[in-house]
Amino acid sequence: MIGPAAALAAALLLVLAALPAARADPVRGARVFQRCYACHSVVRGEVKLPGPNLSGVLGRRAGSLPGFRFSPAMIEAGAARGLVWTRATLDAFLAKA
Ligand code: HEC
Repeated sequence: MIGPAAALAAALLLVLAALPAARADPVRGARVFQRCYACHSVVRGEVKLPGPNLSGVLGRRAGSLPGFRFSPAMIEAGAARGLVWTRATLDAFLAKA
């Protein structure tokens, strides 16, 4: 189990990872991630929120977190089209969200 400070740091890393390095802004990232906390935990193994846990999402195949009921589209993106969450693919996904 990790504490709230570590969870926030993980959240910041996630948001920063989605931004091109030149534009990375931790303060803005923390503010933006407030919207994500409603649905996504970044505490490893926590499953109480409606979205998939984002702990360790970098490098994970889309729609592959065990035990989460993803949409057919997300499962297909990962399983059939090979989408893996990287800084670049997260950036593209989040820019459209
Ligand atoms: C209203 C709830 C909600 C909010 C707010 C939300 N998400 Fe999600 N998110 C979901 C759900 C539900 C899914 C699964 C979608 C699917 O299966 O198609 C998801 C999927 C994802 C995935 C793919 C995870 C995987 O394992 O494939 C990422 C990455 C993600 N969200 C990031 C974010 C970020 C970053 C934010 C904030 C900017 C955010 N989400 C805000 C509900 C939410």
